[in-house]
Amino acid sequence: MAFIDNLISNTIRADVRAIDGYHVPAASGYVKLDAMENPYLLPQHLRLELGQRLADVMLNRYPVASYATLKAAICEHLGVPSGYDVILGNGSDELISIIAMACARQDRRAVVLAPVPAFVMYARSAQFAGMDFVGVPLKADFTLDMDAMLAAIALHQPAVVFLAYPNNPTGNLYDAADVARIITALGENGVAVLDEAYEPFAQQSFMPRLPEFPNLIVMRTVSKLGLAGIRLGYMAAAPALLEQFDKVRPPYNVNVMTQAAAEFALGHIDVLNGQAASLRAARGELAARLALLPGVQVFPSAANFLLIRVPDADAVYAKLCARRVLVKNIGKMHSVLTNCLRITVSTPEENSVFFDAIKASLA
Ligand SMILES: Cc1ncc(COP(=O)(O)O)c(C=O)c1O
Repeated sequence: MAFIDNLISNTIRADVRAIDGYHVPAASGYVKLDAMENPYLLPQHLRLELGQRLADVMLNRYPVASYATLKAAICEHLGVPSGYDVILGNGSDELISIIAMACARQDRRAVVLAPVPAFVMYARSAQFAGMDFVGVPLKADFTLDMDAMLAAIALHQPAVVFLAYPNNPTGNLYDAADVARIITALGENGVAVLDEAYEPFAQQSFMPRLPEFPNLIVMRTVSKLGLAGIRLGYMAAAPALLEQFDKVRPPYNVNVMTQAAAEFALGHIDVLNGQAASLRAARGELAARLALLPGVQVFPSAANFLLIRVPDADAVYAKLCARRVLVKNIGKMHSVLTNCLRITVSTPEENSVFFDAIKASLA
């Protein structure tokens, strides 16, 4: 044991040794509402067809390195403006790391900046790449504190600003004019990454505005659309900028099964869009029901989850767990989130199970 301990302290970075890994709670036997997954599968006939497609995939070969057909399908079906291309990641998590790795400098510590609370991987990826992370607190109503954002940009000159649009875990869309001011303020000194993971539920996007902002990257994922298991993210930006990030991307980072499944699913994008429409409708219904519960505050959401505040989040969370319903207790993540829980919107059946459980848990 002493050998391994010594080996670890002699080799592994101190800041890595000091942190906990990304924790995913075991969910077997639970109604799982903690990870913003789409609860719907593809219909049976499409799954059978997909099975045949996957059976024909050449597992013995590396993927075609250019990913030209999958990229073309993404550009065609997901609204990438003409003249723009995408690069692909093993989930958008990998793209976040790629951006950090490409922007970390050797002569001094470069800065990643984001409003907080935000998606945790922005700070983690910055840390792992050897960058400094600057978090600028959101206002209590979760809007951008524009004075603080612009002052922090002027002070820290960040190489990268991440803006989740809509934001996780708050669920709101930032004001588009504020976002545009931030992108403009960065100018030639920084890239703005609009993380549109929840775009299918917000239906608002900066993708069509890429030509307006040469320093804008629009990053998305197919995870929330219903394909979290295949791990595929993509980002669009000016071709010359993408070319730089592509150098850092590991070759063959998207596997052949993912590629085949994604091409198949994109050919049936209407099915996925229909599921997103059902979830948007369910979000409105669940929000309205929750708002009637005494002591529950429901925040507006443009994503496939709801953020709510309850009188005692730890107690409600424990009672929900006891009823086999798993949500995310984020009350301790940041001071603006005190007593907040984040709940994925699911099928009408699962939403009802959750609603009954939380009603009983508040008692
Ligand atoms: C804002 C945001 N960006 C990115 C991701 C990661 O997505 P992916 O599954 O593509 O890695 C998430 C996942 O929850 C997210 O909330």
